[in-house]
Amino acid sequence: MGTVVEAAQKADLLRRGFSRRQFGRIASLLSAGAALPFYNESALAHQISKIYNMPPDAVRINSNENPLGPCAEAADAIHSVVKNGGRYMFEQTDLLAQTMAEQENIPFSRKPEERYIDIYAGSTAALHQAVIAFCSKDRPFVKADPGYEAGENAAGFIGAGAVDVPLRNGTWDHNVRKMLEMAPNAGLFYICNPNNPTGTLTSHADIEYLVANKPAGSVVMVDEAYIHFTSKAERCTDLVRANKDVIVLRTFSKLYGMAGLRAGAAIARPDLLQKLRTISINFMPITGMVGATASLKASNLVAERRKINSDNREDTFNWLTARNVEFIPSESNCFMVKVKRPGKEFFADMAKQNVFIGRTWPIWPTWVRVTVGTRDEMAKFKDAFAKCYGV
Ligand SMILES: Cc1ncc(COP(=O)(O)O)c(C=O)c1O
Repeated sequence: MGTVVEAAQKADLLRRGFSRRQFGRIASLLSAGAALPFYNESALAHQISKIYNMPPDAVRINSNENPLGPCAEAADAIHSVVKNGGRYMFEQTDLLAQTMAEQENIPFSRKPEERYIDIYAGSTAALHQAVIAFCSKDRPFVKADPGYEAGENAAGFIGAGAVDVPLRNGTWDHNVRKMLEMAPNAGLFYICNPNNPTGTLTSHADIEYLVANKPAGSVVMVDEAYIHFTSKAERCTDLVRANKDVIVLRTFSKLYGMAGLRAGAAIARPDLLQKLRTISINFMPITGMVGATASLKASNLVAERRKINSDNREDTFNWLTARNVEFIPSESNCFMVKVKRPGKEFFADMAKQNVFIGRTWPIWPTWVRVTVGTRDEMAKFKDAFAKCYGV
């Protein structure tokens, strides 16, 4: 921690109410980068992605991955670039940013101070860096419950507060008015749209209301990891174009099937992106970059994959409805289903049937999250579910 930038970061953190001890942790985080525990564990442990010795024929519908993997165009681009793996090829990162910017109608520039899109290896790093940049002891991280916890874990790591606001009963969307009421001094309001784990949507009008009524200095982050699975959600890139205090997150880990290949983006006003940039430096894998760019250029990919996912999801919903099993209608590649007993117990029973479903949330302990798999995987899910649930 010796450069002018680092000194400025230190002053900023102390000004925002961090103690010297917390600052020490952040300082080591800044210098150790991705090696620190919350970077590696929070997202992954929560998704139960690390199940060792999983049988090769196991049905893996636990982590909201896409069983289809990268599209053919992405796989071809990745194969061809592997031989250049000895090169940094930073231009591939710019090319991805430019392609995304064109498709999203966002201004593109190669100059960092003018950029509205920064590329990351997925969206987790951008989420964590935003928490470090905007939250502190006095400026909490605010999210829905049940919701995606990675940001909350990051907040815990740096000693910042976290506020959980239950989803609205029945509609299961973010209760933005309650979020404002419960966290009048928030640093970061996190909206996941569609929400993980419920797959439910929050209206653009409500997000706009949050942006218009939030306290000065706070930022609204809209995580659109699952946005491609639905045609019903309005994207929030328009709020970025309007230069609001909004950061939109995107990832290639979900519909594009590149969770292990890594590519994602933060889309925001240049000064907001700059605040994230000061936390850590990110060099991107060229495999992820060319795969993501090829995916964006693959015609009809989003529509085709959206249909495959919704066909399998709706077929499963019809099956559950016919058996009077309670579930929450979802617009995404995951849904919550009520299993009427501790979710952890149900998960273990399903695993014995070689079907690995997702986890449960403390606020809803008798519900579990299920990822929508292939037609064949969902047939196996139904068989195992019938045995474990008793229908
Ligand atoms: C809502 C949400 N955001 C972000 C992520 C992180 O994904 P990645 O870092 O692979 O983009 C996930 C992963 O499950 C997620 O569900």
